[in-house]
Amino acid sequence: MTRPELEHLADHVLAAIRTRPKQFFTYASLAKKLAAEPAMVESAVRCLIDWGYRVRRRRREAVSFLEAPDMLTAVEIQHGLKTKLIGSRVHCYRLIKSTNDLAAQLGESGSPEGTIVTSEEQSSGRGRLGRVWHSPAGTGIYVSIVLNPKFTPERAPGLSIMAALALATVLEEYCPGDVRIKWPNDLLVSGKKCAGILTELSAERNRIHHVVVGVGINVNQQGADFPPELRTVATSLRRCTKRRVHRVSLLKEFLKQFEKEYRLYQKSGLAKSQKRLRKYSALLGRKVKLVTGAHEVSGMAVDIDTNGALIIESNGKRLPVAAGEVTVAKE
Ligand code: BTN
Repeated sequence: MTRPELEHLADHVLAAIRTRPKQFFTYASLAKKLAAEPAMVESAVRCLIDWGYRVRRRRREAVSFLEAPDMLTAVEIQHGLKTKLIGSRVHCYRLIKSTNDLAAQLGESGSPEGTIVTSEEQSSGRGRLGRVWHSPAGTGIYVSIVLNPKFTPERAPGLSIMAALALATVLEEYCPGDVRIKWPNDLLVSGKKCAGILTELSAERNRIHHVVVGVGINVNQQGADFPPELRTVATSLRRCTKRRVHRVSLLKEFLKQFEKEYRLYQKSGLAKSQKRLRKYSALLGRKVKLVTGAHEVSGMAVDIDTNGALIIESNGKRLPVAAGEVTVAKE
């Protein structure tokens, strides 16, 4: 049996034994069900153990499922995933440069809408405005989602905002009352950055080819896991909840919420999300400075409109701003 064949069998053994956790399944019965030899089932069980699954074995003849590892694998992500579109195809890696780069290639080569790419670690994780996204192994979530919306390119920036809203809704479950969106798409917990979104568009003038929404979430990092320059400005869910957070569960909750927000966005834009956007905003009612290219605007952030633009009131005028870097002025 080749290694890929063995891994394929291990996937099937896993699917069979996790239907009834803690119940013992004999190798003979699994072999019959899966058209294999009992010795192959035994090797497949060893393979599952190598992958980090916890099982109980009885006299090398029977096995029962105990626990899955908190690893971002296609099998774990798709197990019990309650979505129709997002995560219909899942590509998982241990180490790649950037999940956004790979998702863009997949989008280019016609991978269906809802395809996702995850990696346990990124060697060149990218943030907005050419920044680096620190992506250490096994502690965070790095995921990119391929979308093929039918609307025109000017509605694409709102996708970042809708993604931020999906993420805020899920993070709120872990840190109630502590989550804010710093427009357009930084997620803050207790005032520090916990997650970020990088949306990249491939389009012609009137038509979107595909969009990649890349999301990085700091999940189980402890203070010392951040490089010194980030320690005072970044946080993780673990730092806020004081416990380890199960990454696979968190990712599945996010994908489900993302699908819901995406459907709403396709139907009504951000019109029905205004109240929640205001609730989570870190900027409304504060004095801000916004930099876009060579331009700088200072004023009061007063609203977020139905296109997701930030409305800044400056010298008695309300200016809608579609993109840029905002800093909160010291009061
Ligand atoms: C930011 O806040 O500047 C956006 C950060 C986005 C990081 C994610 S991690 C998954 C995806 N792959 C990347 O290279 N970047 C995004």
